[in-house]
Amino acid sequence: MAYENLINEDQELYTLIESEEHRQREQLEMIPSENYVSLAVREAVGSPLMNKYSEGQAFKRYYQGNEFIDYIEDLTKKRALGVFNLDPELWGVNVQAVTGSVANLSVYNALLQPGDTIMSMFLYDGGHLSHGWKLPNGKPVSMTSKVYHPVYYYVDPQTRWFNYDEVEKIALEHKPKIIISGGTAYPREIDYKRMKEIADKVGALYMADVAHEAGLIAGGANKSPFPYADIVTMTTRKTLRGPIGAMIFAKKEYIEAINSSVFPGLQGGPMNHSIAGIAVALKQAAQPEFKEYTKQIVENAQSLAQELVDRGYDVCTGGTDKHLVLIDLRNLDITGTDAAVALEKANIIVNKNTVPNDSAKPWNPSGIRIGTPAITSRGIKKDEMTKIANWMHLAIMNREDEKMLEELKTQVRDFALTYPVPGLDS
Ligand SMILES: Cc1ncc(COP(=O)(O)O)c(C=O)c1O
Repeated sequence: MAYENLINEDQELYTLIESEEHRQREQLEMIPSENYVSLAVREAVGSPLMNKYSEGQAFKRYYQGNEFIDYIEDLTKKRALGVFNLDPELWGVNVQAVTGSVANLSVYNALLQPGDTIMSMFLYDGGHLSHGWKLPNGKPVSMTSKVYHPVYYYVDPQTRWFNYDEVEKIALEHKPKIIISGGTAYPREIDYKRMKEIADKVGALYMADVAHEAGLIAGGANKSPFPYADIVTMTTRKTLRGPIGAMIFAKKEYIEAINSSVFPGLQGGPMNHSIAGIAVALKQAAQPEFKEYTKQIVENAQSLAQELVDRGYDVCTGGTDKHLVLIDLRNLDITGTDAAVALEKANIIVNKNTVPNDSAKPWNPSGIRIGTPAITSRGIKKDEMTKIANWMHLAIMNREDEKMLEELKTQVRDFALTYPVPGLDS
């Protein structure tokens, strides 16, 4: 993408963007929630669609001049239903929520009353802030826990897998209005059928937040929650490889309330340019190559998990079904922060993360979370996971040896530069 105008008008900003582009090329981006959008997505997001105000829904706007915006939003919604094989008679979709957190809040705002009980996965075990997170001392952190009453379920402390009998017990005890599955750091597929059965047993709605797995579901690498859930929310920027944004799918009886909750409940005019970028990503996700891509993401993650197990790392649940690997570093007496910082010095970008039964705080937790969607988008395959695991191991073990980290940095950069970055180089 050329930046001629930006160079002329704002050299300072251009220089920063250029530096970020170099960083994206030279480092291995291994945060599970990140990816590289295509040039086509970038072109749509950078288009003049951002000039238009379009409060309301497609073909029902408060402002004039939305003739084309209406078709763009409608096309995006049709593609969204198509990618997930949904019957438009049974399902509706909203594509306006600006982020996943806003999408989730929009659902609660539409279907719950303040003070209602929401049940979700404990954050330290892999849940998400927007599912009603309160600190262990009871202090609400997210708006969702200020307004609603959250109760949590935990993974099994030994196996670190979901314990559905426990989920059921907690649901029966607290009778939540909504049960939420999904999170940021749970490496295994969720039994959506069982979650729905539990929700039905207590008369709760069942919402599957598949922010992380959206692309894997679209590409067939992970199972779909749609046969079971009442509501499915997702972000578009992760495995789905679209721009920042979100989608809320809901059974027809809930979608009107959700639409009103997004606008005028929580937002004003939608980000038409982002919606157009989502449309492009959805078209790409419907292609056969995307199926291959998502299969490769999982193969890469599984191979990386095994390589790390072989090097003595405590991989939570022993592996992964998805795009992410969660490592508990307590057996090595290393903090998540120290490991993540050492890896960054070696040009490998991961994030520190809490792990099940973590007694440390999220700011300096006991684990790291590693993901393969972005490196897979660059064309990196399973065979390279040995090399990457080796670099990771060397960086973590030699985290105080700046000379060694500097050498690793060069090796990783040279390797990374052999793989083009989609949207930048191809
Ligand atoms: C499971 C889950 N839900 C919701 C979100 C929120 O998405 P956003 O960062 O777009 O608000 C995330 C983000 O990582 C997530 O992992």
